[in-house]
Amino acid sequence: MKILAIETSCDETAISIINAEGGLSNPKLSVLSDVVLSQIEIHSKYGGVFPALAKREHAKNIIPLLKEALVEANLFSKNDSMSEIPEKETRKIFSHEKDLVEDMLDFLKNTAPPNIDAIAVTYGPGLEPALWVGINTAKTLSLAWNKPIIPVNHLEGHIASVLLNKGQNEEIKRPQMPSLALIISGGHTELIKIEDWGKYEFLGGTVDDAVGEAFDKVARMLDLPYPGGPPLSKMAEKARQTEMNNPFVFPRPMKHSGDLNFSFSGLKTSVLYTIKKQESVSEKEKQFIACAFEEAVADILVDKTKKALEEGSYGAIIVSGGVSANSFIRRSFQELERDTDIPLLIPDLSLSTDNACMIALAGFLILKTRMETIITDSKNLKKLNAEGNLKIG
Ligand code: KG4
Ligand code: ZN
Repeated sequence: MKILAIETSCDETAISIINAEGGLSNPKLSVLSDVVLSQIEIHSKYGGVFPALAKREHAKNIIPLLKEALVEANLFSKNDSMSEIPEKETRKIFSHEKDLVEDMLDFLKNTAPPNIDAIAVTYGPGLEPALWVGINTAKTLSLAWNKPIIPVNHLEGHIASVLLNKGQNEEIKRPQMPSLALIISGGHTELIKIEDWGKYEFLGGTVDDAVGEAFDKVARMLDLPYPGGPPLSKMAEKARQTEMNNPFVFPRPMKHSGDLNFSFSGLKTSVLYTIKKQESVSEKEKQFIACAFEEAVADILVDKTKKALEEGSYGAIIVSGGVSANSFIRRSFQELERDTDIPLLIPDLSLSTDNACMIALAGFLILKTRMETIITDSKNLKKLNAEGNLKIG
């Protein structure tokens, strides 16, 4: 079956179409299209994501991306029948996104209903104005094309991103249940027990900043652009290439807290004080600071994951979310895999940061385990709302 997925929870507008066959134990999954448009350049001027700006950009780009994804998947054809489109309902759904409604009506008039089986859409957590653009698009397509909607939790999407994880000989690695997931992104730092697909238990999370947020803030202190993770990581690698000892070392807050929670705010402040104490910070010093910060983060993440592993019995470790793209953090978890002999699954780089393919994959998991959450009757569409603070487990 073919699932079209929409993701607009933060600053990436993304559409993907996958084909999924078979059961959960050995599914055959293929990606027919996966388009992502990042708003990074627009937000980087402000050093962070502005919800109203994000919403406007999603509204501007979602229809061109939708068309692109259909064309790429070979599912686009022009509508030459004069079939009715749900104009009145579409206008009602988009009553708060007036700039989008005409484009949407135009798209519906000109596009034949594609051969897809369901529409998956992120409904939280994230920025509510941004989420609504995706949700309203899904509602309209569901009405016009008569397809069910699968509401998806963005966090389950990050977990599902490892379903396409390839091992050394290109064979797909399947996580043995129960598995332990660590989601590390710009908005999340969460340890989750996956009893089985669809059965999640929250084990611990950040009490202040998310780990990606800490990367972004420290990067800013080092005069690096937003989002700070990738340039900070490059800077840190330079320090590792020298023979010199790193003169900086930063604290590991909550390392010995006895629970599975995290804190990154103290670490961030410690970097700030270190920088403020110096009269000026040389390029070399910046590299050492970036390196010491990254090492502190990796140490905290691995340490808490180890603790969670000790408290349960797990068949796999899943590390996903934007920060899992970090090469030092990847290496640290590969070491943990060697030490514990528990298989590690990290998504492909293209599926680490926000994308819609992971939302389609989560949609597949929901189809197989939680049919009751799928909206098949258009009367129930109004029950689907953006949930900015949606939790998992
Ligand atoms: O998953 P994601 O795209 O969006 C959220 O759901 O939050 O994650 C974005 C975060 C940003 O904070 C970004 O700085 C961080 O992931 N990130 C990285 C790297 N690539 C992205 N952090 C550290 N190292 C990286 N290579
Ligand atoms: Zn994310």
